[in-house]
Amino acid sequence: MKFRIGLVLLVVLSLCFGAKSQCSKGCEALASYYVWEKTNLTFMGQIMQTTDVTIASYNKGTVPNQYSVLFGTRVNIPFTCGCENGTFLHHTFQYDVVSGDTYKTVATQYYSNLTTVEDMEWFNDYPANNIPNTTAKLKVVVNCSCGDSSVSEDFGLFITYPLRPGETLASIAGNGSQALDRTLLQNYNPGVNFSRGSGIVFIPGKDQNGTYVPLKPSSAGLLGGAIAGITVGVIAGMLLLGGCVYFGFYRKKEVDTTLLLPSSEDQSSQNGLYKSTESNSAGKGPTGITVDKSVEFSFKELSRATHNFSLANKIGQGGFGAVYYAELKGEKAAIKKMDRQASKEFLAELNVLTRVHHMNLVRLIGYCVKGSLFLVYEYIDNGDLSQHLRGSERDPIPWSNRVQIALDSARGLEYIHEHTVPVYIHRDIKSANILIDKNYHAKIADFGLTKLTEVGSTSLTTRLVGTFGYMPPEYANYCEISPKADVYAFGVVPFELISAMEAVVRANASGEESRGLVGLFEEVLNQPDPIEELQKVVDPRLGDNYPLDSVRKMAQLAKACVHKDKELRPSMRSIAVALMTLSASPEDWDVGSFYENHALVKQMSGS
Ligand SMILES: Nc1ncnc2c1ncn2[C@@H]1O[C@H](COP(=O)(O)OP(=O)(O)O)[C@@H](O)[C@H]1O
Ligand SMILES: *[C@@H]1O[C@H](CO)[C@@H](O)[C@H](O)[C@H]1NC(C)=O
Ligand SMILES: *[C@@H]1O[C@H](CO)[C@@H](O)[C@H](O)[C@H]1NC(C)=O
Ligand SMILES: *[C@@H]1O[C@H](CO)[C@@H](O)[C@H](O)[C@H]1NC(C)=O
Ligand SMILES: *[C@@H]1O[C@H](CO)[C@@H](O)[C@H](O)[C@H]1NC(C)=O
Ligand SMILES: *[C@@H]1O[C@H](CO)[C@@H](O)[C@H](O)[C@H]1NC(C)=O
Ligand SMILES: *[C@@H]1O[C@H](CO)[C@@H](O)[C@H](O)[C@H]1NC(C)=O
Ligand SMILES: *[C@@H]1O[C@H](CO)[C@@H](O)[C@H](O)[C@H]1NC(C)=O
Ligand SMILES: *[C@@H]1O[C@H](CO)[C@@H](O)[C@H](O)[C@H]1NC(C)=O
Ligand SMILES: [Mg+2]
Repeated sequence: MKFRIGLVLLVVLSLCFGAKSQCSKGCEALASYYVWEKTNLTFMGQIMQTTDVTIASYNKGTVPNQYSVLFGTRVNIPFTCGCENGTFLHHTFQYDVVSGDTYKTVATQYYSNLTTVEDMEWFNDYPANNIPNTTAKLKVVVNCSCGDSSVSEDFGLFITYPLRPGETLASIAGNGSQALDRTLLQNYNPGVNFSRGSGIVFIPGKDQNGTYVPLKPSSAGLLGGAIAGITVGVIAGMLLLGGCVYFGFYRKKEVDTTLLLPSSEDQSSQNGLYKSTESNSAGKGPTGITVDKSVEFSFKELSRATHNFSLANKIGQGGFGAVYYAELKGEKAAIKKMDRQASKEFLAELNVLTRVHHMNLVRLIGYCVKGSLFLVYEYIDNGDLSQHLRGSERDPIPWSNRVQIALDSARGLEYIHEHTVPVYIHRDIKSANILIDKNYHAKIADFGLTKLTEVGSTSLTTRLVGTFGYMPPEYANYCEISPKADVYAFGVVPFELISAMEAVVRANASGEESRGLVGLFEEVLNQPDPIEELQKVVDPRLGDNYPLDSVRKMAQLAKACVHKDKELRPSMRSIAVALMTLSASPEDWDVGSFYENHALVKQMSGS
């Protein structure tokens, strides 16, 4: 059975956009419900989709039985805190409209300020003055928290706590032996003035037994590690079912200026979008970065340089666009044409990228927006790495060059991860995106659409990226993206350099199913005699011309990069250091030194 990877990928990936707020797995949570005058436990149970008995069990001190609750007290109501749509931690309650309801009564009365009128308007399509009387359901989005290991490992159950006038940090923390540490509370709610009288804070809560619940040790989750060994079919199923149905979460007003639409299907709204941003403010992105005209090419220029984008000039086709050879102002260039629109803010981001220069990164020279989006890159002579490894028209690359290519790519990535301002995540590292120049040095390509990783940045993120076989479990499952996602994807490349196999080993005639290269190598390296097994998967085109020890070290390094737990993957910096050692003295490099470097670099960077 041949699996249509490409198609599925497109479907999955087109659903997968970066968003500013992201979350991974959910948890149990509590809502602090202020008991208003005319409410009762039955009603509270009903709207919070739980029962009066359950509520009573969480509030033994204040709710003596399931029938009575005191007006003016607070009651903790359990609910499930999830990462719906991969956006931010929350739960969406369904509320059945009763005649006369308004967003205001629902938010500030029935749900006791656990949500806001603003959020009601945002998540529901009915205009505020025209909520249907009956049968309508309203979405009530209540935010929640699952804790923060950087603040404390001791708390894993949190109360969504709407502040009321008159409350202070001191009154919420309490006094006496039960007091919560005030600094801790403040750290969980950075920048929040606890005396402000409204808005939500998150405070550690106790379970039914009256004890604080510690943070659960982080793991890749239920589906963790799926990518590594399971067949592609299964992965695709998981992705489609639960993993990546993931839309960027933006405020409605912001959508107009920040979203870069994924496909050309919705042409009319795209144009609308673009126009609305166009009129925004000439030359200025919302982030305040001035778009420098010098990197903006005219469509005429590009068209002329590629003979009207003739087929003869076409040099590549990736998942997101065709690439053409061009001669621009006497310089060789590669122009990528993509059928999508860009917002001003996105262009501002491109503008930043055109200033990121490193010998191991393909230089983005400029862009043009005219119908499609065009990105202009410096031209790299020798094609991409996947062509070299698997194309019959190219000579096999000697092992020493392969080590060099790994090192070059690692350096390029290290640069964008650590040395640019802001720092970037590439999000689509793979052999097809590593280009080889005349001197067999590697340059990372296809990074015009990388995601800004600045914490707290309001900048958009646009492109869904990722390719089967290169996606780390946390991304496949939760669309969780970090530099460690690049590290994982990078880790697949050495496996390719060793074996010349594709990241997804295709199903073959003998009925074996498609599987990931990561899984294959995992198996190889777990054999009692990994060296012997390793030799069996070495690229046959290398013949015997490779130092086995160096291959083994490369494989070990790659294995560390594709660790299921992203925290345990090394940084690009330590990978580059390790590869430098390997390329300099392939003989006396041992895996131990890699881990030492890893630890050492960690120490040096103080993390
Ligand atoms: N700067 C370049 N120089 C030479 N060839 C390039 C260049 N950029 C891209 N290519 C070729 O075009 C292919 C697709 O380009 P890429 O930027 O990776 O687009 P996509 O996002 O569609 O994958 C590459 O795999 C490579 O073969
Ligand atoms: C409980 O409260 C709801 C909402 O205020 C009200 O409609 C209902 O009649 C009350 N039930 C009882 C038994 O008091
Ligand atoms: C999640 O996605 C669904 C379906 O697209 C949408 O109706 C809902 O509003 C989204 N929720 C959030 C919090 O974005
Ligand atoms: C919610 O907040 C509003 C405004 O601060 C306040 O008037 C109202 O009484 C609050 N509702 C509850 C149930 O506490
Ligand atoms: C819930 O979280 C979202 C995303 O962070 C935020 O936009 C919204 O204002 C929050 N709602 C409340 C009531 O705090
Ligand atoms: C809504 O309620 C108003 C008055 O209560 C009534 O006139 C109208 O017919 C109702 N509309 C629907 C759709 O039930
Ligand atoms: C605890 O604080 C409350 C008000 O915040 C106060 O009334 C009470 O006396 C305090 N108790 C102690 C033991 O300090
Ligand atoms: C917090 O808010 C209260 C009430 O608005 C105000 O009096 C107080 O000065 C604020 N504190 C800080 C540190 O901003
Ligand atoms: C409460 O304590 C009992 C007995 O120690 C234990 O079996 C139960 O799992 C605890 N419940 C929770 C929610 O921790
Ligand atoms: Mg590509």
